[in-house]
Formats: sequence, structure tokens, C-alpha cells
Amino acid sequence: MAFVPTMGFLHEGHLALMRQGRQLADILIASIYVNPTQFAPGEDFEAYPRDMEQDVQLAASVPVDILFTPDDRAIYGQGFQTFVTPQELASRMCGISRPIFFRGVATVVAKLFHMVNPHVAIFGEKDFQQLVIIRRMVKDLNFALDVVGAPTVREADGLAMSSRNAYLTPEQRPAALSLSQSLCQAQKQVLAGETRAQYILAAAEDHIRSFPETDIDYIVIVDSETLEDVTVIDRPVRMALAVRVGTTRLIDNMALTP
Ligand code: PAJ
Repeated sequence: MAFVPTMGFLHEGHLALMRQGRQLADILIASIYVNPTQFAPGEDFEAYPRDMEQDVQLAASVPVDILFTPDDRAIYGQGFQTFVTPQELASRMCGISRPIFFRGVATVVAKLFHMVNPHVAIFGEKDFQQLVIIRRMVKDLNFALDVVGAPTVREADGLAMSSRNAYLTPEQRPAALSLSQSLCQAQKQVLAGETRAQYILAAAEDHIRSFPETDIDYIVIVDSETLEDVTVIDRPVRMALAVRVGTTRLIDNMALTP
């Protein structure tokens, strides 16, 4: 049994994960649950886009065998108080501006794993830190399942698909594209022989800052497993960034391979 957890408002990125799940098992289960514990007060929990009718149709097109859509009572019953809290891996990158985010993610994913009991679960590389943290949790807590990472699905112009792209106005699109552009620029620099992370990060920062409506949360080049900063790119590493475009927070990442 293969499992793809989501928060719905499905797009091609989610569907690609589901199609991969389809290949990996006889039965495919997907879930849709907008998990309140991974949103801090003031974040976009209420505004998070939802369209269950369309999601049911899209899931059926894969096809998904079982679409699990629990409500809050099914996940966080009265008196709920037990959380899974990832440590170092959750203290950097997105964990700095979203300190409770990965605790909410790890907790709900652990619960969904127990409820669904799959033998393989598919997560997108789009949320690279989340993927690394889930892999670690599966090892640390002895879940008997394989975690499979799936490549990021992008729009034709390079923008990584995300349910939150629905917040972007047409005028903000060029600024939103600066994320994937700066990652591609970094890849080219590495292929041309550049090994200094600092130089590549500065170039990315310059490019993103050239769009006035952007506000950089972080840009890092890190080890793909420990998520620790890398200064010399002498092996495959990950470049990742989070940038606010207007009020919309976007993330993206890419492998940098010398
Ligand atoms: P959500 O943002 O809905 O994403 C569900 C899954 O789809 C995640 O594994 C995510 O990495 C993957 N995904 C999203 N956009 C993608 C893209 N453009 N290409 C490939 N994969 C993509 O991530 C969550 O929900 C939640 O944190 C969740 C794990 C469900 C826990 O609540």
C-alpha cells in the first residue's frame, strides 16, 4: 500500500506523487487534511486554499483508490497533548521563521502513518527540509515503511508548483520567478567550476533583491542529509531558499552538483 499525504488544493506536483505511488503498490491512498498544528497564529491556516470537489475529481483521475479526508476531531481528539518534535534538522532554514511548523508536520505525518499503515510513502523534494525530517523520523521512531522522494514539478516558466501560488497576482509573477532563476543561475555557476558557496549565495541574493516586492527569509547551501551549511561545493549539495513575494511566502530548492 502506497500513501501520499497532502493538504489538498491539488496540482500537478501532488498528482505526480500519486502517479509514482500508483507504480509502487497495488493500493494507493492519498489524504487531504489542512493540519492546524503546523500553522502558527497569524499564518494562513484560515486562508489556505481549499476545493474538495475539484480535489476528489483530480484524485480520481490518477486514480487514487482511497481518498482519506479526516476532520479535526479524527486527528486531534479532545485532550490531545502528545507531539513529535524533530530537533536539529528543524532548527534551521524554515524552522527559524516557523518554529512550530515541523513539530506540527512530524506529528500529523506520524499519526497519518499509524492510521493508514502504508509500506511506502511519497513526499516531494519541493519541501526538501520536510522530506529530510520525515526520513529521519521514520528511522528514529522505527516506522516500518520506505520514504520515497519525488522531484519538484514546475510550471512552464520554472515556478515550482504550490497550492500557495494561488495567492500570487499576475504582477508578482516575475518576482516569484526569481527563486527558480537564482537556483538555475547557481547550477550554471557550479557547472562552470565555481565552488565558493558564499559567492553563489551573494549572486542569488542580488538577483532576488532586484525585484523590489521580494523579502528574503533565507538562502542556504547545505548538506543534503544534515542540512548543515556547506562552504565549499566539492560534492552534491542542496541550495534552498524561502522568499516572501508580497505577503506570499514561497520556497524552492535544487541540487548543485559539481
Ligand atoms: P502539501 O503542501 O499539500 O504537499 C503534499 C506533498 O506534495 C508534499 O510531499 C510536497 O512536497 C509535495 N509537493 C508539493 N508541491 C510539489 C511540487 N511542485 N512538486 C513535487 N511535489 C510537490 O507538505 C504538506 O502538504 C504537508 O506538510 C503534509 C506533509 C501533508 C503534512 O501536513
